[in-house]
Amino acid sequence: SVGGTVAEPIAVNATEPLLLDAVRGKEVERPPVWLMRQAGSYQLLCEKHPSFRERSENVDLVVEISLQPWKVFQPDGVILFSDILTPLSGMNIPFDIIKGKGPIIFDPPKTLTDLEKVREFIPEESVPYVGEALTILRKEVNNQAAVLGFVGAPFTLASYVVEGGSSKNFTKIKRLAFAEPKILHSLLQKFATSMTKYIRYQADSGAQAVQIFDSWATELSPVDFEEFSLPYLKQIVDAVKTTHPDLPLILYASGSGGLLERLPLTGVDVVSLDWTVDMADGRRRLGPNVAIQGNVDPGVLFGTKEFITNRINDTVKKSGKGKHILNLGHGIKVGTPEENVAHFFEVAKGLSASYEQG
Ligand code: CP3
Repeated sequence: SVGGTVAEPIAVNATEPLLLDAVRGKEVERPPVWLMRQAGSYQLLCEKHPSFRERSENVDLVVEISLQPWKVFQPDGVILFSDILTPLSGMNIPFDIIKGKGPIIFDPPKTLTDLEKVREFIPEESVPYVGEALTILRKEVNNQAAVLGFVGAPFTLASYVVEGGSSKNFTKIKRLAFAEPKILHSLLQKFATSMTKYIRYQADSGAQAVQIFDSWATELSPVDFEEFSLPYLKQIVDAVKTTHPDLPLILYASGSGGLLERLPLTGVDVVSLDWTVDMADGRRRLGPNVAIQGNVDPGVLFGTKEFITNRINDTVKKSGKGKHILNLGHGIKVGTPEENVAHFFEVAKGLSASYEQG
């Protein structure tokens, strides 16, 4: 070469992770598998670093916690350790997540004037640690699994912000939706624009797929979902697809049985199904184009090993070959025996022998 030294080449594994192949409908030897809240030794770290915001906003801790399950179970997806609420402080909405209480929004915006103070999110300024952590994770995992980023969906974020935290009856957000819809729409639009940027930022930093959590969308009747959630999800997906056409987007909505046919209308590549819908029904109702993630009941991990094995086999059989990411319908529950989690992964990864593509 002309002048200068040639940089040492880094050994990059160019093989696509199994999870991406499965989402794209390629032939795979078994369904990829990963779990949410899969970290086992996490509790020890919590004692040493009791503040959730510290654990989730310090690059070294984020990387360490994200890699814990990867080191123990070798899942096919490694999810970033963060929270759907992490962007809020950068949007001028102060919050915290408190042990035993869950998320708290300190000064929930109520009026249009309050809303004007909500800033649009600039990820590279507000959460540089997320980008740095994703870049490190991508290098560490080196395509042996897919690095997964995630964001909250506009309606779910708005629910936390308007309710001031977790809610049982969602009366504040519904009052806003049904009495002052303009105010809610303006907040939803801010989240849609901000989460579009956030997904792009995560992808540019190293995320290979991004999951959108609309955990509370199913609190809405289908007609209200069509007004307050679906258009914003579709807007995000459409916008991300213009700049990142190959980035798989996964939509998670728990308790979505009543909404199932509407979820593919968002344009996402994967719909995450919870256990209240039978996998065979889910496949039929979601149609052939989307991949399905799920949907074993997290409670199954409290059963016997034989029961866990049978339930995995039943789920995989019903998913019909291909376009399936094996997962639980929600995160691992506190108190789940770690040996059962290990068994889940062992069985899942041994499925290749019986899995046929067709
Ligand atoms: O798998 C992972 O651990 C990835 C990281 C992750 C967290 N939260 C860390 C976390 C992910 C993907 C989330 C998503 C999230 N956060 C959702 C969507 C998924 C869902 O459950 O519907 C929601 C609604 C939130 C908001 C949130 N964060 C709540 C309601 C709570 C309290 C729950 C509780 O157990 O008290 C949190 C806190 C939180 N975020 C925890 C973790 C591991 C547990 C508390 C802690 O670790 O201190």
